[in-house]
This record gives sequence, C-alpha cells and structure tokens, in this order.
Amino acid sequence: MTRLKVAVVGVGHLGQHHARILAAFPDVDLIGVVDANPDQAAKVAKTCRTRPFTSFESLVSLADAVSIAAPTIHHHPVAAAFLKAGVPVLVEKPICQTLAQADDLIRLAAEAGVPFQVGHIERFNPAFEELLKRPITSKFVEAERHGPYTGRSVDIGCVLDLMIHDIDLLIALVRSPVTDVQAVGAAVFGGHEDMVNARLTFASGCVAHLTASRIAARPKRRMRIWAPEGYAGIDFVTRRLHMVQQSDELRRNGLHPERMDAAARARLKDDVWGHHLEVMAVDGNRKWDQLTNELRHFLDCVKAGVTPRVTGEDGRDALAIAERILTAVRTHSWTGNPADPTGPTAMPTPAGKLFESGKDAATGAA
Ligand SMILES: NC(=O)c1ccc[n+]([C@@H]2O[C@H](COP(=O)([O-])OP(=O)(O)OC[C@H]3O[C@@H](n4cnc5c(N)ncnc54)[C@H](O)[C@@H]3O)[C@@H](O)[C@H]2O)c1
Repeated sequence: MTRLKVAVVGVGHLGQHHARILAAFPDVDLIGVVDANPDQAAKVAKTCRTRPFTSFESLVSLADAVSIAAPTIHHHPVAAAFLKAGVPVLVEKPICQTLAQADDLIRLAAEAGVPFQVGHIERFNPAFEELLKRPITSKFVEAERHGPYTGRSVDIGCVLDLMIHDIDLLIALVRSPVTDVQAVGAAVFGGHEDMVNARLTFASGCVAHLTASRIAARPKRRMRIWAPEGYAGIDFVTRRLHMVQQSDELRRNGLHPERMDAAARARLKDDVWGHHLEVMAVDGNRKWDQLTNELRHFLDCVKAGVTPRVTGEDGRDALAIAERILTAVRTHSWTGNPADPTGPTAMPTPAGKLFESGKDAATGAA
C-alpha cells in the first residue's frame, strides 16, 4: 500500500477533524499539524499522535499532500506555497478571497500538474450524490442554509461562509450560465452580511432562490428542486433525498376531476400520494460522513494523479457567483433611492421596538 505523508494547516473548529480523519486512514502518515495558535496546534497534535507546528514552511518539502483549513484570508498564500513545490492541495471553501487569487492557484496547480481540490463538502453528501445519479432538469430551486452564530469565519460574511455551498451545488446541478443576480442582505452584528436572500436566473430558464443566515436559532440546510421529471428535496443534515414523480398513467392521461363522479372525487385525496404521485425516499446515512468521503476522494486522486470531483475551476466559478451576489447586496437601496446609503450595514434607523425588552422576553428565536 502506498503511504502518503500528509500535513494539515489550520486545525481549529474544522481543521481538527481533517487531522483526526486523516490520521485514522491506514495509508496516511500525518506528518504534522500547523496552527498559528501554539496551544491549539499542541492539543490537536497530541490527539492525532503527530507533531505540532506554528508555521507551515518546514512541511512544504516533506509533504506528499496538504489539507488547508486556516481562515480564508490565508488560503491563497498557504496553497500557493505548497502548489509551487508540486504538493497536491485540498483547500477549504471558499477557494480564497479574490478571483485573481483563484486564477493564480489554478495556474500554479496546472503548472505543477498536481490535483487541486476545493472543500465544497456538500458535493460528497450522499443525498446530493444520489440526486446527481438521476436525470433532473432543474427549473426552480430553493436552497436554505441557516446556522447559529459561532463567532468564527468573521473574516467573511454569510455569502462566502454558507451560501457558497449552495452556489457550488447549483452550478453542478443546473450546468448553465447565470444571466441575472438579485440579492438583499443585512449585517446584524456589524462588519459583514449575516443574512442574505438571492435570486439567480440561469440561461436554461432555471430560477433559484437562496437564503443564508448565520444568526439562526436552529440549523437548517435543505434544497428543494422542481423539474419536469418531478420534485426532489434534500435535507443535508439528515442526508435524506425525497423524490416525487407523476405516475405513468398521470403523465399519459392527466387527471380529470371534472369527469369523475362524487365518490371518485372524494377518493382523490387518498389516491394522490402513492398512486398518481409516486414517492421515494433515499436515506443517505452511509458508513462515512461527507468530510471523510471528501478527504478519501482527495487522497485517491493524489495517488492516481487524477482530477478531483471539485476542482480549482469549480471553486473559482462559485466565488465568481458569490461576488455577483455580494455586489447586489452592497448596492441594494433600503429606501428605494440609490443616492441613500446602500448595503448590508446601512439599514435605516428603526422606527421603534417590536416589543419591550425585559424579563418576559424569550431567549432563542423561532
Ligand atoms: N466545508 C465546510 O463546511 C466548512 C465549515 C466550516 C469552516 N470551513 C472553512 O474552513 C476554514 C476554517 O474555518 P474554521 O471554522 O475551522 O475556523 P477556526 O477559526 O475555528 O479555525 C481556524 C484555525 O486556523 C488557525 N490559523 C489562523 N491563521 C493561521 C495560519 N496563517 N496558519 C495556520 N493556522 C492558522 C487559527 O488559529 C484557528 O485555530 C475557513 O476557510 C472556513 O470557511 C468550511
């Protein structure tokens, strides 16, 4: 069995799981974990029985592959250093901060001729994998990605933090250029946008509504798709794919309640589900979670020297749409007058309080 010497750069909330999973693969020697915070590096290194580092430079010449889960502002410099040395790279999403940086990483990977993968993890969600096996011509998509506030990823807003997952999934699903982007978003804690709604139109005629919030009380990650072939709903948390399609008889003959007698019409509501509309649910809860799937895929591509499922170009395409959404968010006028301040931090002064603050106020939103 070929063994790979692998390093992880950035072992915070997510990177520590990269390190843990990689350390458990039988064909991996985890040669070190890097974190700017020495205590965090030491803690994760101890758990994973490897060496802690506070900078990545000394690992560049030793690694056969690297996984980068440092904050987004560091993705470009760290990935570029490894790619220049011919080391295959998996970099967390978003690929980096700017399209110019993304192009630079794509060029470096091509020059080195090594696999370069971007961590759009939901592509490895078994429910989405199941959906892509089927013919579906998406015409309307609704994606919701809500998470509680964590105080992490504050170098970016919820478009690059959360919505970029659904942007990448949409690109993979719809496979058509985006022709129009509208969006509105607000910053609740200041700095970057914390909640955004976007409407994308594709050249194929598909329309998508995306909502992302990182200040929700409860997590929700789901996508609903309307297509001529039927309806598909994915719950990314439970990894469940739910599908509905017209029965052959309904497709052939249609449904004509006006020609039915009263008794047949009364039976309709019981007959619709299962008879006229066929339902199928696929439970994607398999042995491995999507992070394990994603890391395993990366290592297999490194060993075989083949292009990964989610390429640098895919990461760049998702970033390009995210930038168009951010431009729409920043130029949105809350008063209808574009001369007034625009964008997520320029919400108008509140007209009053929705309710009185005090001991009766509930904690946690619906
Ligand atoms: N794929 C996903 O679903 C998903 C989920 C969460 C986060 N992410 C991405 O993963 C990355 C990390 O997010 P997180 O939530 O783990 O953040 P985090 O803040 O918990 O962890 C980042 C870690 O990187 C360390 N660090 C900072 N600068 C560094 C540097 N120059 N070199 C090495 N380490 C450095 C920090 O000390 C911290 O421990 C971000 O790019 C984020 O967008 C992806």
